[in-house]
Amino acid sequence: TDQVQVLVAIDGPSGSGKSTVAKEIARRLDLGYLDTGAMYRAVAWWAMQQNVDWADTHAVVAAAQDAPVEISTDPDRQFVRVGDTNVTEAIRTPEVTSHVSSVATVPAAREVLVARQRGIIADSGRRMVAEGRDITTVVAPDAEVRILMVASEEARMQRRGAQLGGSQNAEALRAQVVGRDAKDSTVVNFSTAADGVITLDNSDLNLEQSVQAVMDLVLRAVPQL
Ligand code: DC
Repeated sequence: TDQVQVLVAIDGPSGSGKSTVAKEIARRLDLGYLDTGAMYRAVAWWAMQQNVDWADTHAVVAAAQDAPVEISTDPDRQFVRVGDTNVTEAIRTPEVTSHVSSVATVPAAREVLVARQRGIIADSGRRMVAEGRDITTVVAPDAEVRILMVASEEARMQRRGAQLGGSQNAEALRAQVVGRDAKDSTVVNFSTAADGVITLDNSDLNLEQSVQAVMDLVLRAVPQL
């Protein structure tokens, strides 16, 4: 059964819990895990190092092409490198977070990353849980399992706040997260499910219940697992 191809595509807004759930599904089913948001973040980090002018679309696309991003697909050993620099932590800073939409909203930069993501999925033997904003619609509309994970704004803010250690002002956090999702939504739709995509609202589910709900969907779609 090790050869069964199963690509699980999960999209959703910030704080929907998709990263934590996707990673856990990958562990339990012995699949790879791809955090596509980390790739956008790594390009933003690189562009900042290069002092790229965010208004210069061509420069942003060039950054996406040139940034030597290497990303781990092991759910238990996540890291991101840009060249020789380990940026695993640096890509989560507020500075990078505030600039990442400037990469994500440039269609030609997205095309570069989408092509790379498809390559990574192919390299996995199509045994992967891939997570982001456009996996179910653009990167892998042919995935065996396609899920849009959503949660109420309240639940999402709570989780994002907890992720950041609860040190952030609640209103500032809400403004940041809502603002980023609004910007990103101008180029990718991750608020409504495309045809054939299953919406999973986990506002009232804890982590284990969310994992179980996704597991049920995966095992229903790929019973050979
Ligand atoms: O999931 P995240 O917060 O790490 O994502 C970082 C940014 O990248 C966020 O602004 C949305 C964007 N993104 C995207 O546009 N498409 C993806 N497939 C993944 C992330």
